[in-house]
Amino acid sequence: MLKTHGCGDLRAEHVGRKVTLAGWVNRRRDHGGVTFLDLRDRSGLVQVVANSEISEAAHLAATDVRNEWVVRVEGSVQSRPEGMQNPDLPTGEIEVMVDRLWVLNAANTPPFPINEETEVDENVRLKYRYLDLRREGMQANLKLRHQVVKYIRDFLDERGFWEIETPILFKTTPEGARDYLVPSRVHPGEFYALPQSPQQLKQLLMVAGVERYFQIARCFRDEDQRGDRQPEFTQLDLEMSFVEREDIMALTEELFTTMVEKLLPHKKLLNKPWQRLTYQEAMDRFGRDDPDIRFGLELVDVGEAAGGSGFKVFESVLESGGDVRGINAPGCGAFSRKEIDELTEYVKQFGAKGLAYLAVDESGEHRSSFAKFFSEEKLAQLLEIMQAEPGDLLLFVADEPAVVNESLGRLRLHLGDRLDLRDPSVLAFLWVIDFPFVTWNKEEARWDPSHHLFTSPMQEDVPLLDSDPGKARGQQYDMVLNGLETGGGSIRIHDRALQEKVFHLIGLEPGMARERFGHMLEAFEFGTPPHGGIAPGIDRLVRIFADEDHIREVIAFPKNQAARDVMAGAPSPAEPRQLKELHLKVVDTD
Ligand code: AMO
Ligand code: AMP
Repeated sequence: MLKTHGCGDLRAEHVGRKVTLAGWVNRRRDHGGVTFLDLRDRSGLVQVVANSEISEAAHLAATDVRNEWVVRVEGSVQSRPEGMQNPDLPTGEIEVMVDRLWVLNAANTPPFPINEETEVDENVRLKYRYLDLRREGMQANLKLRHQVVKYIRDFLDERGFWEIETPILFKTTPEGARDYLVPSRVHPGEFYALPQSPQQLKQLLMVAGVERYFQIARCFRDEDQRGDRQPEFTQLDLEMSFVEREDIMALTEELFTTMVEKLLPHKKLLNKPWQRLTYQEAMDRFGRDDPDIRFGLELVDVGEAAGGSGFKVFESVLESGGDVRGINAPGCGAFSRKEIDELTEYVKQFGAKGLAYLAVDESGEHRSSFAKFFSEEKLAQLLEIMQAEPGDLLLFVADEPAVVNESLGRLRLHLGDRLDLRDPSVLAFLWVIDFPFVTWNKEEARWDPSHHLFTSPMQEDVPLLDSDPGKARGQQYDMVLNGLETGGGSIRIHDRALQEKVFHLIGLEPGMARERFGHMLEAFEFGTPPHGGIAPGIDRLVRIFADEDHIREVIAFPKNQAARDVMAGAPSPAEPRQLKELHLKVVDTD
């Protein structure tokens, strides 16, 4: 090794020791005959002193170096002089007096500072990702991600799981996104699909008698890059045989609860055991199936007070089968007209036609866009349902249920951010269960699976698949953390007849079903154990654990928002020779 110690590992107990260090120059300060270097490596920083009276040559070399040069020093650890200690630095009691200094590699001036956490344009960061990753915050994220994956491996190994790799070059394994296709050179006109998840393969491993499988699995989905999505991302993919829903939920819960307690002792777990909500409850109370339960501001149905109130907007929506629901934003009663207009514009993005408001001031008087239409009695009823107190701001949307949920669900999160109610030191895990088995796809006029094709309906709801599919519930469970879906799983179908019935229900005709999933149907006829599993998203979990705003911050080499790798320049055109070998021609479709 070119070094004996990590820069950040030296302490007072090393005083008197001869050490060799190697790393990057974080900062240089010249004081005449003495030059100070902060030398940095993965372990941290240490102050290195080059004194011309101790070594003329080392001092000369130290004067030449610049930030981010790679140097190696030999010297001895000494206590810093009285009053020069730095209590903010773990190595702040000591410094290293240099005897010899070697420059291992010079560096150009970096495009952004490495030694401070300044805001830098993201595409510049991504272009020089190897420099971006040198920064302290990113190093911490890489380390945390490693610790999370290591914890998962150890935890599952102790419980008898085997880690098994499944192919990347495979056939379509749909999870609702577009596939990435890979052309085959040896089979002209034929393509592999990159798996959107190892879903089918893990189920086939259950048929194979593996019983407990997991994989830190790369998944590929060609979808819009909005929100917490990347074209390739990583799941903890796991599957077990002879289990029921409760078994998978209990295992997942124990895994992440103990992980947080060990790796993130500074975080507070909001609930242990995790709270559970049915899909319906989540929609009713929060307007979304991935609620953030760290704060209140729940949605309230005010249909009873709105019906017959005299306010046409509310009445006509109710008459046409819509909903009127509201949020009480406590302490926001003094919001200005302009602020309320901003909230109105905000909900309009999500389809709302307006935002009716009622602000109660501290003396109990109110300002409102609609109260004048209400009878006194109906108004009192409304205030009671909303539990309005002086100082509160009541906000209402009337529309078809999907629009009310989407706009108020988003408004709730928006207010939560604005009022600082989403405490990052709290981790609120939650299960959402009892999802509808299928949802109606208006555009294509057919049923879509809520989860995926292989999820089992609730046993007792199987007859509903024929009579009233929209009422059937699936054996699906979603894991939600701080308002983000961080995992999804289900008990699977393990019976050919039921699988075919589901294919039929979602409009996959038998020929197509056989062509795409014949291997699954066939496998189900060779003794398939009942099985189920889950796939928590590693990127999303680690980004919340690391208090980051986007999963790109916890992926070493992510794509940018336009799905490009701006460092290496991918995607990029292929050589004509390569296209020819692959039997491909690029044509302009415009
Ligand atoms: P699902 O499609 O719900 O389930 O995905 C599981 C979890 O993977 C994460 N995830 C993503 N993370 C980053 N970028 C993306 N584009 C992306 N898409 C999904 C989310 C999500 O909750 N095979 C099933 C699991 C199963 O049934 O066992 C599946 O993939 O955190
Ligand atoms: P208008 O009668 O259009 O002037 O609207 C009166 C108030 O009701 C305004 O505050 C509007 O923002 C609000 N409003 C209009 N349509 C709706 C709706 N569908 N849901 C909730 N509020 C609405």
